[in-house]
Amino acid sequence: MSNVYVTRMIPEAGIEHLKAHCDKVEINPDDHVLEPGELLEKVKGRDAVLCLLTDIINDQVYEAAGPQCRIFANMAVGFNNLDLEAARKRNIVVSNTPGVLDDATADMAWSLLFSTARRIVESDAHMRSGKWDGWGPLQFIGKDITGRTLGIIGAGRIGTNFALKSAGFNMKVLYADVRRNEELETKLGAKKVELDELLKESDFVSLHVFLSPETTHLIGERELTLMKDSAVLINSSRGPVIDEKALVKALQNGDIASAGLDVYEFEPKAAEGLLELKNVVACPHIASATFDTRNNMALIAARNITEVLAGRDPITRVN
Ligand code: GLV
Repeated sequence: MSNVYVTRMIPEAGIEHLKAHCDKVEINPDDHVLEPGELLEKVKGRDAVLCLLTDIINDQVYEAAGPQCRIFANMAVGFNNLDLEAARKRNIVVSNTPGVLDDATADMAWSLLFSTARRIVESDAHMRSGKWDGWGPLQFIGKDITGRTLGIIGAGRIGTNFALKSAGFNMKVLYADVRRNEELETKLGAKKVELDELLKESDFVSLHVFLSPETTHLIGERELTLMKDSAVLINSSRGPVIDEKALVKALQNGDIASAGLDVYEFEPKAAEGLLELKNVVACPHIASATFDTRNNMALIAARNITEVLAGRDPITRVN
């Protein structure tokens, strides 16, 4: 008798798969994040839980689920919301959904880069305000993209995908990562550099690292000061990678020109002052939000559950 809990409604592909393979599937019927107390209550006695990046899964949650629980399948590529070590100690598998969202996330980072560089949101608002009085030589002047220097911080799957998409814009590509990325070097002539050099040299800096103690506040006051005052910072990774208070200051002081953000340090809140800035394009954590991508993420999370409950390895294990 397999008993699965899904912490919030997810795309149908995942639900259908679970219902076809499991005896009991219960889904949180309300489209909201469960309160910690509700979560503890709901996971009780489950063999598997399909959770989301907004669920904080700590040892208390594993304890509440009980010793029969085999897997927490996160419907996200990131997994900073789960305590991996506690899961390992209890022999609980943690899985994520890598690969299927590389294109969507990289496309989103490019969308943020374009809209920030070319002031799309600002000019759209101006158009809608009815204040536009016709073409003007000094209106909404933005930044060139073609031929400029692109700095990628974190050249894993998504960072690589994002970088490869720059080929059409003939950009000079720098990357900072602990590992060498031969694909980027061969295909783009990209150069691996230290973080400080990347920050000093790049016109556009895009973040693609996982959140970990090492990457928390990787970009703070010091790093923002190193960047060109004409530079654009893009973040589609995790909010706490940037010290958001320091970012607001840097944007106010003109230490950097602008920022395109999909993620925030304390979601769903943005740092004080951030959303008042015209030189910020802010989206509500939607990088993987395309129909196909979300369907695929739901399906992989569900398949991880059914594989583990069938006594096999998950497709995409984290711990
Ligand atoms: C989204 O942020 C994810 O980690 O999938």
